[in-house]
Amino acid sequence: MGLSLQKNEAARQGIDSPYLLTPGPLTTALSVKQAMLKDWGSWDSDFRAMTATLRRGLLDLLEDADGAYDCVPIQGSGTFAVEAMMASFVPRDGKVLVLVNGAYGKRIAETLVYLGREHVVIDKGDYLPPRGPEVAEALAADPAITHVVVVHCETSSGILNPIEEISEAVYAAGRTLLLDSMSAFGALPILPRHVRFEALASSANKCIEGVPGFGFVIARKTGIEAAKGNSHSLSLDVYAQWAAMEKTGQWRFTPPTHVVAAFLEALRLHREEGGCPGRLARYTENRDVMVAGMRALGFETLLKDRWLSPIIVTFFDPADPKFEFARFYDRMKAKGFIIYPGKLTIVDSFRVGCIGRMDADVMRRVTGAAGETLAEMGVASAEPPEKAMIERAKLTA
Ligand SMILES: Cc1ncc(COP(=O)(O)O)c(C=O)c1O
Repeated sequence: MGLSLQKNEAARQGIDSPYLLTPGPLTTALSVKQAMLKDWGSWDSDFRAMTATLRRGLLDLLEDADGAYDCVPIQGSGTFAVEAMMASFVPRDGKVLVLVNGAYGKRIAETLVYLGREHVVIDKGDYLPPRGPEVAEALAADPAITHVVVVHCETSSGILNPIEEISEAVYAAGRTLLLDSMSAFGALPILPRHVRFEALASSANKCIEGVPGFGFVIARKTGIEAAKGNSHSLSLDVYAQWAAMEKTGQWRFTPPTHVVAAFLEALRLHREEGGCPGRLARYTENRDVMVAGMRALGFETLLKDRWLSPIIVTFFDPADPKFEFARFYDRMKAKGFIIYPGKLTIVDSFRVGCIGRMDADVMRRVTGAAGETLAEMGVASAEPPEKAMIERAKLTA
């Protein structure tokens, strides 16, 4: 079934919500929503089997033939999983180099303050990517650093960070890499045979297209075993959650049962679509169609094509004084599309997501709606102000 036809079917069943052009929670399939209609007992063997299927299904995406990794689901939103990963994998006497180029990198540094873990930051501002050589230099200058953490796709700008060259620099210096792959895992390739890493965190409501309610940490088993006793927190202890799941098949505390049921259906659809490569192909087409349509209206992307992720794209607000984001947003919503405000500190911007149960046909309708909305607002051209183009020129590569 085409993805817009599916939406029509949902509408016929009285489930009519706007498309979420946001990086999660995102638009989910009707069958994912329907999977939540049944109640499950958390102790029951049926639910334990579902938990095992969920963990296996996520691990399969790594194509880890050696079975070196394991998957530990954690109740809560994605931030809970990132915090659990940092608390569990960084020993209390460890020191972290945090690579920051946006809100989610900043949040990791803030988390480390709460956790009381020593850390230093390379802050590249709103979006400039951290590069391998500068990581190598920082590691050479500070032998006390044990771990490096980076955001895979920095969702606040949409930039795809160069994790391959960062991983090479980290392991060449004998240190350990942790990844916040929240908005990338499930679409962008992250295969241990190509990119070395100790652990990553992601969540149910991103590229696997489930509903919100849990995150997960995927990590080397040796790392999980070594994490025993590191966490400051009972509920965010990856080792303890893993040990309990291994022993009993159960989550330690009330699991989000309906969310897990929905996630298994989301994983089935993910497999049906061709796994990560299939999903990446659809998201890439979504992005290409949407960006071409927006550029045809005069909008400019913050990033040049080489850095654009197929997850979310930042556009500059038009210079025309008749453009006002709040009105643009409301009118887009009235047409059935929820977009996202920008997070740049220097110029005004907004974001449009490419992930979720949507296809190129939907993206064509998004840009059609954007064109109509500009006309309704009396905005003649979506061209950004001069200072936006000066900002963009900073990312020359
Ligand atoms: C890269 C990244 N890290 C962390 C988070 C935080 O996840 P949550 O809002 O589910 O806590 C997000 C959310 O979009 C994200 O994109």
